Amino acid sequence: MSLTEQELLELEAQYCSHGDTVHYHNPPKIFTRCEGSYMYDEKGQAFLDLQMWYSAANFGYANPRLNNALKRQLDTLPQITSEYLHKEKILLAAALAKNVERTFGLKGRIHFNVGGSQAIEDSLKVIRNATNGKSLMFAFEGGYHGRTLGASSITSSYRYRRRYGHFGERAQFVPFPYCFRCPYGKKREDCELFCVDQFERLFDSEYQGVWDPKVNSSEYAAFYVESIQGTGGYVVPPQGYFEKLKKILEARKILLVDDEVQMGFYRAGKFWSIEHFNIKPDIIVFGKALTNGLNPLSGLWAREELINPTLFPAGSTHSTFSSNPLGTAVALETVTMLETSDYHHSTMEKGAYFLNGLKELKRKHRIIGDVDGLGLALRIEICKAEDSFTPDKSMVDKLCEIALSGTLETNGKRYGLILDIGGYYKNVITLAPSLEISYEEIDLAISLLDQLFNRCVKEI
Ligand SMILES: Cc1ncc(COP(=O)(O)O)c(C=O)c1O
Repeated sequence: MSLTEQELLELEAQYCSHGDTVHYHNPPKIFTRCEGSYMYDEKGQAFLDLQMWYSAANFGYANPRLNNALKRQLDTLPQITSEYLHKEKILLAAALAKNVERTFGLKGRIHFNVGGSQAIEDSLKVIRNATNGKSLMFAFEGGYHGRTLGASSITSSYRYRRRYGHFGERAQFVPFPYCFRCPYGKKREDCELFCVDQFERLFDSEYQGVWDPKVNSSEYAAFYVESIQGTGGYVVPPQGYFEKLKKILEARKILLVDDEVQMGFYRAGKFWSIEHFNIKPDIIVFGKALTNGLNPLSGLWAREELINPTLFPAGSTHSTFSSNPLGTAVALETVTMLETSDYHHSTMEKGAYFLNGLKELKRKHRIIGDVDGLGLALRIEICKAEDSFTPDKSMVDKLCEIALSGTLETNGKRYGLILDIGGYYKNVITLAPSLEISYEEIDLAISLLDQLFNRCVKEI
């Protein structure tokens, strides 16, 4: 049955819940094919994708090596009940745990689930279990950890809880070191990380509400961090921040959970993005790019003291599809590929080249307030042209509309751009291009963005 795009959209309007996605575009856009850095619509129109499925397809759409790993598994052992073992699961867990051991010098175990939010839920269980049921967490303003009930309780947006309430977990949201809009009105050059001192102040006495100095115990079990904020707008913290924060947490026996769901697997130029900041996590949560988006496999690594089978026994969590063989086979290939290639240098070099192009655009366009990035996690903050600072969401909406219309042109060829929007004021273009992007494609991206900004300023 071949249906027109209009007929498909009518069916969607009638039968699809709008609650399971964001539904930003009107009309919603339908794509039919993807390859490398591009998505294609029914007419064959190419869209250069600068967000790669929110950083799930880090290694390019239809990456042949990873696709083949999936196909091989499909022909051998595509299904198996999770109480039985398969080699790929064991090798994947060993590879990830050994990676963490090499990187941070810590022993631990790998625990699987499906979807980033579910892995966050599992981390909450690990923490509750290890801390006599504590359910209060610190998390960052602008932090995003998913939309299941537990995960949305520690995600800063009240919008995600307004209709559904809290599940049990509660978080105290601490300002992230977002230096372009410093919450304390400081300048990075001479702030001396005032923001961390403000956090430490919470432990001054019992009257700040988080600490009992008589028994040296905090009511808060863990601090959930994204070392570079993802949905919060690809905000890169200053060096030194996390080191200072970790010392405060360690002294109060508060665990640090490193949410790598969006920034892990070389998005920011390191296997784990937190490696940039010289601290050791207690728990790492991962998902998305582990399978290049070919399977929703996710999971966590936790220190042996938190997750050994005596403390966290069989059946502590369970999902029919956790550690499913298609997912673990692709993930094993991903991890093998990462460990035998030099994604660190290629991502840092391409990222620096891309960022230079963005800096050039900032010099030309007053609507760009800030550009920044680490590896290939890059940001463009769109602001009012008058002061290049006041967030301009309506400009961003216009930018996205034109980008998705597929009417940008270069060398006589038409392109669309796929952009993702994040940030506290929904005014940040969060760029997560394929880590396999070529330098020519980066040049193309800069030239299409340049054109996009010119057109938008004229049309608005
Ligand atoms: C940092 C972070 N944590 C958790 C999640 C939730 O993952 P999922 O959407 O797979 O449930 C996301 C999703 O974007 C994320 O960016």
